[in-house]
Amino acid sequence: MKQKRIHIVTMGCQMNVYDSEQMLRHLASLNYRPTSQLGSADLIVVNTCSIREKAEHKVYSFLGRLARMKRLKPDLMIGVAGCVAQQEGHRLIERAPHVDIVFGTFAVGRLPSLIAQAEAQERPVVDIGPRGDSEPLCIPEPVSETERGTAFVTIMQGCDNFCTYCVVPYVRGREVSRDHKEILRETRLLVESGVVEVTLIGQNVNAYGEKNGHGCDFPTLLGHVNEIQGLRRMRFTTSHPKDLSDQLIEAFGRLDKLVPHIHLPVQSGSDRVLKRMNRGYSRDFYLKKVEKLRQVRPDISITSDIIVGFPGEETVDFENTLDLVREVGFDSLFMFKYSDRPNVPAVRFSNKVPDAVIGERFTILFGLQSGFTLKKNRALIGTIQRVLVDGHSKKTPDQLMGRTPCNRVVNFPVDGDRVVGVGQMLPVEIVGAFSHSLLGQPVAGVKEEGAGETGGMSHAA
Ligand code: SAH
Ligand code: SF4
Ligand code: F3S
Repeated sequence: MKQKRIHIVTMGCQMNVYDSEQMLRHLASLNYRPTSQLGSADLIVVNTCSIREKAEHKVYSFLGRLARMKRLKPDLMIGVAGCVAQQEGHRLIERAPHVDIVFGTFAVGRLPSLIAQAEAQERPVVDIGPRGDSEPLCIPEPVSETERGTAFVTIMQGCDNFCTYCVVPYVRGREVSRDHKEILRETRLLVESGVVEVTLIGQNVNAYGEKNGHGCDFPTLLGHVNEIQGLRRMRFTTSHPKDLSDQLIEAFGRLDKLVPHIHLPVQSGSDRVLKRMNRGYSRDFYLKKVEKLRQVRPDISITSDIIVGFPGEETVDFENTLDLVREVGFDSLFMFKYSDRPNVPAVRFSNKVPDAVIGERFTILFGLQSGFTLKKNRALIGTIQRVLVDGHSKKTPDQLMGRTPCNRVVNFPVDGDRVVGVGQMLPVEIVGAFSHSLLGQPVAGVKEEGAGETGGMSHAA
């Protein structure tokens, strides 16, 4: 069979990163190999995101670029996957007739047969159907030795929460948890292939196992993953505050490989807005969870998501959000301007906040958080962090880049005679702090620890 090249452009969240990897696993038997060069690909797949309008625009502008490529190279096959594919189906072909395959979030496993179909017929192929009963949720076997030390493992798909602004339940379907034995098998295989850190992913990992009766809840699953020999760090995302149990909070004090970081999206600091968002918790409930987390793990880094300008958000609601941000002191924050999405309930909500007001509020929140982020980063100066090397620094390619246990980016130089590889865990002293990254200096003579993270925040002698 002639070897072919596939290039996947992944937009959106970790779910899509994982699904792109799944595509490679499904295509390995068809003799497709990945290429990093767009120009040398026989098949280009765009794995899309629909979370905000801007994300969807990005898809169409990229597809415009591919239309020009295809005019010069008519054999090029173009596939569109992910959440915009699932949402739009045939409509996507009407807007972008040069696309050969549109396949939704439940059709990743059918990619090999969809390619065969597209090769055999002139018309584009569209598959946004549900997953078949006999189709596995995921393929656990990695295709090759990993080049990075870190990997995502999906533990659940879909979401049943129906926050009123969010497309995810519509484009990813109902919540389904994977069997814990499969998750453990995949994690072990990844560790054998060189992975030292896994991030367990799902839209609401705290609800893992609740609806499928696998006999394993999320804290129990973490306990099992913690036992895997050779694994050194585990993370998870995303955690819904309403399902953050005391057992899970206690896991931060008990499991040595669990990093001291939690991403806990709050979305708003106003009870009235939280209710209209259908988040299922109050501001006070959220603050109590934060307090408990800090009791169990005082060094825990807490990050969050906030939506600015949700329909009906008044000045006083926004001030409550600012107030919550001050009270918690997040290590960092992802801030989003509210964006209307097709078919979600909030589209029909009255009292939309004008764009100019959203813009002003966004700037205020951004300014407030920047101060906190910088202060939290500066507090790490002088500490030694165990950094997992992830590649070359983006801005200064002669430096390396890695991540601390709390997921902060550290750039650091290496001596010419020192061999440091991607996937290696290294003690690095923090010598500088900026708003998006830290500057480090590898520590000579500090023995590297064996398995297990200790939180990685000891002061330099
Ligand atoms: N499952 C995760 C979030 C997934 S989406 C959770 O529940 O926290 C990531 C973030 O995008 C959300 O936390 C939210 O802050 C933001 N987001 C989702 N829909 C949005 C919309 N319509 N407009 C603006 N931001 C949105
Ligand atoms: Fe969207 Fe809410 Fe589900 Fe997160 S929990 S994916 S914000 S519906
Ligand atoms: Fe985007 Fe789909 Fe993830 S909408 S955020 S890629 S689940």
